[in-house]
Amino acid sequence: MRKKAIITSALPYANGEIHLGHVASTYLPADVTTRFLKLNGVEAYYVCASDDFGTPILIQSERENKTPAEYVEYWNRRDYEDFEALGIGFDYFYKTSSPENKKFVQDVFSKLDAAGHIYKQEIIQFYCNNDKKFLPDRYVKGSCPYCMAQDQYSDLCEICGRVPEEITDPRCSLCGQAPTKEKTDHYFFRLKDFGEQLSEWLEKNDGLQRDVKKYVQNWIKEGLIDWDVTRDISWGVPIPLEEARGKVFYGWFDNHLAYISTAVKFLETKGIDGKEFWNSADIYHFIGKDIAYHHYLFLPAMRMGLGKEYKLPDYIPTRGHLTLQAKKLSKSKNWYIGLKEFLEYYPADYLRYYLVSINPYSQDDLNFDWDDFATRINSELIGNLGNFVNRALGFTKKSFDGVISDPGDPDKLDAEAESRIKSLGSDAGALLEQNHLDRALKKIMEFSSYFNQYFQHKEPWKNGAGAAGCVYHSVNAVYCIAVAVSPFLPEAAQKIWGQLGLDGDVSGSSWDDIAYGIASGHKLGESSPLFARVEGSDIAKYKRLLGPQK
Ligand code: MF3
Ligand code: ZN
Repeated sequence: MRKKAIITSALPYANGEIHLGHVASTYLPADVTTRFLKLNGVEAYYVCASDDFGTPILIQSERENKTPAEYVEYWNRRDYEDFEALGIGFDYFYKTSSPENKKFVQDVFSKLDAAGHIYKQEIIQFYCNNDKKFLPDRYVKGSCPYCMAQDQYSDLCEICGRVPEEITDPRCSLCGQAPTKEKTDHYFFRLKDFGEQLSEWLEKNDGLQRDVKKYVQNWIKEGLIDWDVTRDISWGVPIPLEEARGKVFYGWFDNHLAYISTAVKFLETKGIDGKEFWNSADIYHFIGKDIAYHHYLFLPAMRMGLGKEYKLPDYIPTRGHLTLQAKKLSKSKNWYIGLKEFLEYYPADYLRYYLVSINPYSQDDLNFDWDDFATRINSELIGNLGNFVNRALGFTKKSFDGVISDPGDPDKLDAEAESRIKSLGSDAGALLEQNHLDRALKKIMEFSSYFNQYFQHKEPWKNGAGAAGCVYHSVNAVYCIAVAVSPFLPEAAQKIWGQLGLDGDVSGSSWDDIAYGIASGHKLGESSPLFARVEGSDIAKYKRLLGPQK
């Protein structure tokens, strides 16, 4: 763990609302990790931006009779608000269409060009005579030449994850007509030249996920293709060449550069040298597996092409897709749950708890299931954690007037409790450092469950000799839970903090505080239940909202 870190998550397209699928694979894991790093004294910054360019956005803004700039402005703000409501704590949320990013992108292009990594080539581009425009990317649909999947956009096959050189059986996605072909000059990035260097980098970088590396090495073996980084459309970063007037960059040329330009801009407002910080920090890019190709090949190759200007990522945590009730998410079939909508039903921490619990550090898909959600919240979050906190604090209020007693000599149960308290931080911390957020959370839940049993066995309500010790160890266990769970459940952690009678913010503590932090003589605050149950009747109602509406 370096003392500095920059954390990013895949930039959301400024093109529609954030739903649970986005959150599960990318934003939540990145947020939990950032909070954990901060508790460890790492100078960590979580930066993100809306991804503003590209043909789908242009097409959609045209449909809505808005300028693309107005259109992305709306979604930039809306996305940010939705994320905030989930407690995603960006240090900075900017946009790929910022003046800083535009300038940075143009500079990067000029440098890559000067270093010989760019070439110009006349290409034949699909053109729709009906719509009178060139048809890049999403303007064309057809079959994937690799896996034969039908109805794929020409820029990415969603079935096999590859980027086709030329789509088979093309059609204009606006009017459905078969396009004609016209000549146009495009600029290409020599991705092919980087195969060996990329392969070596993948090989020796232990921070990268093993299952993904294998995939990517295979792609390299199959042979890389140079990337066309030009688009003949009106919305994008202009290519900084006189001869390229009217042409803009492909969205995947400029978007990931906003990781850097946004971080640098943010750091500079804090009076920090952005480049120096970047190069001495651990760099994390959290993504979903659908954009592995872009992040494991294209992004590092572009950074390599710049020489040693900005270091490559140390970690690219890559997670699978979320399914909903075991079915693929689909906006058009109304088979998805918007983040904003969900947070009207349940507190952010419920969703955070559930999505972290079901989300391993792997590319495996994960499934949101309403019944499973209800069970886990009711039996784990409430039945285990909420119950223990309430029991320990409630009992101390009632029987000890909220004052932590002197523990006296430990008995056997106390001694074991003590060893649990002393090892929670390192056990859960090790898992968090390895990106196993789900397993770290499980450790904390096991800790809580152990203390429920401890409390039960000690029977402090009988007011025997062990009651004082039980209160002391139990309340300290609650304290450990507050700190340990704070990256996952920031609101609940803060509530516990207040109930413990502690001032300020739990986020101001340190991961090393997971130990005996409450001394005898300390007085607790007011205690009340942390969570409300999830009701079956509500779940039934929410299930009915999915799918085609009659
Ligand atoms: N907007 C892209 C998507 O949702 C992700 C962009 S991540 C980037 O697939 F950094 F590379 F910009
Ligand atoms: Zn395919």
